[in-house]
Amino acid sequence: MRKPVLAGNWKMNKTRDEAISFVLQVNDKLPKGIDCIVCAPSIILRDVVKRADNLKIGAQNMCEAEKGAYTGEISPLMLKDTNVEYVILGHSERRTMYNETDETVNLKIKKALEVGLKPILCIGETLEEREAAKTEEVLKRQITLDFKGVSFDDPLDVIVAYEPIWAIGTGKSATSAQAEEACGYIRTVLSSIFGPKFAEEIRILYGGSVNTANIGELASQPDIDGGLVGGASLDSGSFLELCHALKTNRKY
Ligand code: PGA
Repeated sequence: MRKPVLAGNWKMNKTRDEAISFVLQVNDKLPKGIDCIVCAPSIILRDVVKRADNLKIGAQNMCEAEKGAYTGEISPLMLKDTNVEYVILGHSERRTMYNETDETVNLKIKKALEVGLKPILCIGETLEEREAAKTEEVLKRQITLDFKGVSFDDPLDVIVAYEPIWAIGTGKSATSAQAEEACGYIRTVLSSIFGPKFAEEIRILYGGSVNTANIGELASQPDIDGGLVGGASLDSGSFLELCHALKTNRKY
């Protein structure tokens, strides 16, 4: 049985004080037996890590290089130095607004694993691609390119998040059937690359307008091991509710 994951993606939100107050509010109220993660802005990671207890902390992006002339970038070694455990890679906002390609995402995944960070890889199709019935083709291409030449010691070192772009920040979540179908397909593709044991153990999340009203139904699907949540993860009460609802509804 895979351990469920509720990962909050704060994006470019929260000051240091707001972040610390969130962490102190949730610390002793998180459910046991699931991984509750918050991916915070880089500049406050150290403050958040220092106060987090059962809460796990991740970053939202990193440079594929370790050091050098990369003005404005954050090195994976610097992230490692803050003691974060996870890093979101290939989020659609990075791919669309900052021109990240599958090739860069691939380099970032390799580097993250090399320095001991666990990638949360985001993949997903646009509305246009879904309407043209290309969802599986896009997911397969992204998985194949993003994981090209990557080898794992442990399937728990990586999390894959299926995030259809049309569902992110739009309030229009995928139905649980659509999300399950895509997550199941992702598992099948991963099985063909890394083998059935790996595919059985890796955690696959759904992300895109997840909230306290739809988490239960999403979490009760066999291939959805949890959620990557943006907007609804910003409020500590809502984050706690999501974590508890995930734990209650996850039966697989
Ligand atoms: P959302 O964002 O929950 O606000 O749709 C999800 C994400 O971008 O990871």
